[in-house]
Amino acid sequence: MEIPVIDFSNLNGDKRGDTMALLHEACEKWGCFMVENHEIDTQLMEKLKQLINTYYEEDLKESFYQSEIAKRLEKQQNTSDIDWEITFFIWHRPTSNINEIPNISRELCQTMDEYIAQLLKLGEKLSELMSENLGLEKDYIKKAFSGSGEGPAVGTKVAKYPQCPRPELVRGLREHTDAGGIILLLQDDKVPGLEFFKDGKWVEIPPPKNNAVFVNTGDQVEVLSNGLYKSVLHRVMPDNSGSRTSIATFYNPIGDAIISPAPKLLYPSNFRYGDYLKLYGSTKFGEKAPRFECMKNMTNGHKNIPA
Ligand SMILES: [Fe+2]
Repeated sequence: MEIPVIDFSNLNGDKRGDTMALLHEACEKWGCFMVENHEIDTQLMEKLKQLINTYYEEDLKESFYQSEIAKRLEKQQNTSDIDWEITFFIWHRPTSNINEIPNISRELCQTMDEYIAQLLKLGEKLSELMSENLGLEKDYIKKAFSGSGEGPAVGTKVAKYPQCPRPELVRGLREHTDAGGIILLLQDDKVPGLEFFKDGKWVEIPPPKNNAVFVNTGDQVEVLSNGLYKSVLHRVMPDNSGSRTSIATFYNPIGDAIISPAPKLLYPSNFRYGDYLKLYGSTKFGEKAPRFECMKNMTNGHKNIPA
């Protein structure tokens, strides 16, 4: 099984329809996909990964191998409730906390900020395309995630999955779905580990070529789409040949955003069957979707059933 690849350079020409259909299918059937030709500066992506790796080598690696996690693996104690990872989290929007990360270099701060500014454009574009594919207003997801604020929350989980001497005993990150909205992942181009659950099997997500961005959808997109775009279970397997870099940026609802399924995607409800039959009598040989829409309007108090 090959994970879907969405070529963003095809969105402006003759292939737009096919590309949108491919994106819709990826969201419905996979819950994840790769984006190529995303217009993010690949040199900037390379620089960011290098700086993260330097930060890991200088500030995180030693403490990780002395941590309780490493000791438990060494002693072969219970490892079912630990993850073989070391992480830190940066908020970018609504306010940035990047300067509060201990010992982070000015160059890494600046590079991260530049990368996020470009990545955010991709996140917004994806939120528009998903909204369009769901039959919603282009800015529906963005507005739903913005709550009373000025835009969605944006944060990045930076993770290293250190080289692991006993990968058979532990997970890099245990099985889970993501809580938030749209997740955009810049991952290691050499060391694999990410796996998604598809049709009863774990599918390995290979290291990307040319810094393609890996995207998956979280629980809030599932709720908002009324279950059409399901968040999918995934995990990280550790590796004994090298350490893996993962820079996962979340395009999420802000904390006070009120999340519901989009009303347009819901079935009509609380109607009298007799009213439905009356409408059915005059629309039986037409599409059922407009009939459902008509029932929704009626149950909302707009008694506009055709006579
Ligand atoms: Fe995740």
